[in-house]
Amino acid sequence: MEKYLINPNEKKSTVSKDIYGNFSEHLGRCIYEGLFVGRDSDIPNVNGMRTDVVNALKEMGLPVLRWPGGCFADEYHWMDGIGDPAMRKKMINTHWGGVIEDNSFGTHEFFELCDQLGCDVYITGNVGSGSVREMSEWVEYMTFAGESPMANLRRKNGRDKPWRVKYFGVGNENWGCGGNMDPAYYANEYRRYQTYVRNYDGNSRIYKVACGPNAEDYNWTETVMKNAGRHMDGLALHYYTVTHDWGHKGSATEFSTDEYYTTLRKAYHIDEIIRRHLEIMNRYDPSKRVELVIDEWGTWHDVEPGTNPGFLYQQNSMRDAIVAAINLNIFNKHSDRIRMCNIAQTINVLQSVALTDGADMVLTPTYYVFKMFKDHQNNTLLGSYITTDEVGTDSDRLPRLIESATEDENGVICSTVANTSASESVQIKCQVADSEIKEIRAEILTGAIDAYNTFDCKEAVKTQAFEGFTKTADGFVADIPACSVVKFIIER
Ligand code: AHR
Repeated sequence: MEKYLINPNEKKSTVSKDIYGNFSEHLGRCIYEGLFVGRDSDIPNVNGMRTDVVNALKEMGLPVLRWPGGCFADEYHWMDGIGDPAMRKKMINTHWGGVIEDNSFGTHEFFELCDQLGCDVYITGNVGSGSVREMSEWVEYMTFAGESPMANLRRKNGRDKPWRVKYFGVGNENWGCGGNMDPAYYANEYRRYQTYVRNYDGNSRIYKVACGPNAEDYNWTETVMKNAGRHMDGLALHYYTVTHDWGHKGSATEFSTDEYYTTLRKAYHIDEIIRRHLEIMNRYDPSKRVELVIDEWGTWHDVEPGTNPGFLYQQNSMRDAIVAAINLNIFNKHSDRIRMCNIAQTINVLQSVALTDGADMVLTPTYYVFKMFKDHQNNTLLGSYITTDEVGTDSDRLPRLIESATEDENGVICSTVANTSASESVQIKCQVADSEIKEIRAEILTGAIDAYNTFDCKEAVKTQAFEGFTKTADGFVADIPACSVVKFIIER
């Protein structure tokens, strides 16, 4: 039996709700069809936003949404996406399938979507093919309340009051699709562009996010922190979990147990990556003012057979759910330094939380993990410790049990435990230090490693009440099934 200690006397950092953010790009069927169908669509919508998806995301507790890219952001010209939709300029989406982008979803539509979702806004500006003036004017257009050319243009387009932009990204992947820059060059560009991201709103400062490293590119972090660290609030790391390699990533639904463990081991590797980037950041910023943002993460599998390779449409199984639980538990544990994370991408692209087919929608196993974990949002991270052995193959090993525990303002504890084993359940004995337990409620998400939901069978994988535990005076004893995520809500 493994021992699990939760220590409410050891109060750590606040778990920023924005760790539970999503990312939505003009890519494949994410924005068009997935989120936005237009006012005239037969698919039920409010001002063009599909009602089923908006309701599902609200229930999931989505706190913040990143837009418009991704690689798309560095070729997006925001002025093409305002004004009468019928008159908007069309462009080629060169990164993603070469399809025609009609710009019918632009700035006003994005804010309408976030308003319906009740979530905050994270906008990424164009450094790669844009200009300082273009970026600066976008910020003025969105956030300036007074009389100015851009604020007046916004009014002419039907919006009097400015919007609140909580986060602004100065470019995306500028080491790659965002301009193929080297870190010293980007650091200079970052300093110049961010100067003109002005704070027009006296009540809230825009949080500036600099393009950070790809996975293990520690040199990028080193150089950008050294040359531009004092001008940023957050540095954005990207890390995708790819089972094999970029040429042959592997199927989303047809994989062996060995491949399951390869995927999980690679997902778990993000813990080391985070630690090493933080060590570098701390060297250049000993007061730890600059936070880490992980604004693209998740699994990247081969596209579903028969779908457009440029659309990145993939299914989502219990394996993806375990990847999500591993990541989110790790992010919680680093919440002293991580401000925001955005899984890629919300709908119909990569590790989505929902898939759509015409008017139909199916929630993925990853959706249920986000919904279970929403109880952690804005809680206080507690010291928590679990004994565990490792599972996997000779080459791909990771801990069997990965958990985190947080507490809300009333002292109610939320603990999320993932059993990464493909085949074996495990017994745990949990003790909550210095506590008498009144009540425990628990939920589980479990299934075969390759179980997934389809449009014909939407509830093959979904959360259920979990009864496989016994409350004790100061905790519980539980049997955590193989390939499962269990949430315990513990009232003291
Ligand atoms: O999420 C898909 C793509 O992955 C994004 O556009 C880009 O930033 C990253 O390479």
